[in-house]
Amino acid sequence: MRSRRVVFRRSMCFVFVVASFGYFGWKSTFRSKTVSNSVDILKVPIELDSPFEQGLERSPLVEENKSSLIAKTNLTVASISYERDRQHDNLAFTHANKHHTTLITTSICLKDYFLLILVSSAPSNVGRRRGIRLTWGAESSTRPWWKTYFLVAQTRDRNLSESLLHEGDAFGDLIRADYFDDYWNQTLKIQMGFEWASRYCNFSFLLKVDDDVFVNMSALLSNLTNRSMPKYKLYMGLLWQKLPVRRYKGDKWEVTKEEYEPDFYPDYCPGFGFVLSFDVVHSFVNLYQVVKPFKIDDVYVGMLAERAGVRGTNNYGFRLYLPRPDVPCNFDNHSAIVWHGVTEECVFQLFHSGAHH
Ligand SMILES: *[C@@H]1O[C@H](CO)[C@@H](O)[C@H](O)[C@H]1NC(C)=O
Ligand SMILES: *[C@@H]1O[C@H](CO)[C@@H](O)[C@H](O)[C@H]1NC(C)=O
Ligand SMILES: *[C@@H]1O[C@H](CO)[C@@H](O)[C@H](O)[C@H]1NC(C)=O
Ligand SMILES: *[C@@H]1O[C@H](CO)[C@@H](O)[C@H](O)[C@H]1NC(C)=O
Ligand SMILES: *[C@@H]1O[C@H](CO)[C@@H](O)[C@H](O)[C@H]1NC(C)=O
Ligand SMILES: *[C@@H]1O[C@H](CO)[C@@H](O)[C@H](O)[C@H]1NC(C)=O
Ligand SMILES: *[C@@H]1O[C@H](CO)[C@@H](O)[C@H](O)[C@H]1NC(C)=O
Ligand SMILES: *[C@@H]1O[C@H](CO)[C@@H](O)[C@H](O)[C@H]1NC(C)=O
Ligand SMILES: *[C@@H]1O[C@H](CO)[C@@H](O)[C@H](O)[C@H]1NC(C)=O
Repeated sequence: MRSRRVVFRRSMCFVFVVASFGYFGWKSTFRSKTVSNSVDILKVPIELDSPFEQGLERSPLVEENKSSLIAKTNLTVASISYERDRQHDNLAFTHANKHHTTLITTSICLKDYFLLILVSSAPSNVGRRRGIRLTWGAESSTRPWWKTYFLVAQTRDRNLSESLLHEGDAFGDLIRADYFDDYWNQTLKIQMGFEWASRYCNFSFLLKVDDDVFVNMSALLSNLTNRSMPKYKLYMGLLWQKLPVRRYKGDKWEVTKEEYEPDFYPDYCPGFGFVLSFDVVHSFVNLYQVVKPFKIDDVYVGMLAERAGVRGTNNYGFRLYLPRPDVPCNFDNHSAIVWHGVTEECVFQLFHSGAHH
């Protein structure tokens, strides 16, 4: 078996991406090496048997071994702040690239996973996280194929803050940093998630979703393990191309020329669900200091992709809208991989309707 190596080297100001490619199937080994001040990672996808050989069996959720967790670490994600922009009467977006965000989570991946799942979740969405842990997010076969983590920020609600500490202890699946959760802080969250994944996890693919989706894991895995699926340079989801920038005054999504000059966004996948190959995640993290944070998180991912020279792939299985909005949990159509806008109850219904067979 031949292997393929991708070397990432990051220094304070420059990004070098040196890649040497060779053919290989999707069985290989994963190596990582860290050198003094710079991050020097040598990685190739992980070795796993086919999920169909494994049988994709499920068993009740297993708690992680808490004694194997790590200490706090600082991340390189930039801080983002806002000022009331009187001229446009909206929140103007600024950033300070020098700032480092401190990771307050102690979780790390305890194994190599074929698929790492990061779910953006608001601190108060306890029920949604519970639903995901009990349904599509759970995987506890002896050699797990995937692992689900939640990206949850800080909250100023003391009681909730306290209960998040307990939740994190109990499940070991919360990834948190020292910023506050806010609609416009989602870019920080996504930066944090990618950097955490890049540092503390070995994986072949990363699925980023919001917490209001249903993922048909067997459909997703069969898609990702298909030999025609690219193992590298993959940025896949519902691909939006040439979306015009909204300039309407007072619009929630208004973006001023100062914030973003061009009239169209780079192609991007809406944040409810998209897949990245491991090499893309690493290259994104290396570009944080180069591509200034942008307030709309999924657009920011598109900007990183454009800069990294990664072209988005449209996947018809990623559905932003349910086929019949009038039928709250319509699962007549089994062709979807990720469904957005699904209620908590519907997640259970979909799961028990045979998604895992
Ligand atoms: C990732 O792979 C490297 C090299 O094989 C290994 O040292 C490290 O422990 C692995 N990390 C995890 C979380 O498995
Ligand atoms: C947890 O990890 C520690 C140290 O690696 C080990 O000694 C202990 O047996 C593990 N416990 C379980 C339940 O796996
Ligand atoms: C994180 O940054 C703070 C302040 O910048 C510093 O005091 C602390 O030692 C850093 N922690 C680590 C683990 O690097
Ligand atoms: C927090 O919990 C305390 C005691 O359980 C309760 O009295 C208080 O009202 C709660 N505060 C909020 C903001 O929910
Ligand atoms: C996140 O959003 C809050 C508003 O809720 C804001 O106060 C804060 O400065 C933002 N940034 C960080 C890094 O927490
Ligand atoms: C992945 O799934 C989508 C949607 O079902 C389909 O269009 C595409 O052909 C699949 N790709 C592979 C490689 O299986
Ligand atoms: C792999 O994907 C191709 C289309 O991209 C499809 O024709 C083929 O049936 C898929 N193979 C499997 C085993 O799903
Ligand atoms: C499933 O959904 C797709 C896209 O909405 C549609 O084209 C297709 O006809 C649907 N299939 C069925 C059986 O409803
Ligand atoms: C999930 O996908 C499989 C095909 O991989 C399909 O048989 C099943 O019906 C789907 N489940 C749902 C709930 O759509």
